[in-house]
Amino acid sequence: MRSHASVSIAAAVAACFVILAPAAQAADADAAQALARQNNCFRCHSVEKAKDGPAWKDVAAKYKGKPEAPARLFTHLTTGEKAKFADGHEEEHKIIKSPDPAKTKNLIDWILSL
Ligand code: HEC
Repeated sequence: MRSHASVSIAAAVAACFVILAPAAQAADADAAQALARQNNCFRCHSVEKAKDGPAWKDVAAKYKGKPEAPARLFTHLTTGEKAKFADGHEEEHKIIKSPDPAKTKNLIDWILSL
């Protein structure tokens, strides 16, 4: 019995590491939303609902399983690509103002995690 108990404790400890490891790399949602607010992204986007721009949940769904997504969105947010609006007109997408590319990446990771 004793050895069984220690085996299951070891398994429980191992399980904790499995659970904690991805959390350490997950996007910082508060920092992501703060950066989005500072940049007025929410004027055209929301998490759940399409506004002038697509809902970020829909963006996450569109890029699900696509390894190029973070780089694609980094280009999208930093180069002023043409963006097609719901009414059909096109204008350059807002270029993000960010103190640090790592913060832009964190926002992208958060959007893709929605
Ligand atoms: C003036 C309105 C407007 C603002 C402000 C705006 N966006 Fe957008 N965004 C759009 C539109 C319109 C699209 C759709 C572009 C397309 O599909 O051609 C879009 C698309 C996107 C996409 C999806 C791109 C893709 O490849 O599918 C992301 C992610 C995004 N915006 C993030 C942001 C972030 C982050 C900010 C703030 C820095 C922001 N947007 C500010 C209008 C806006």
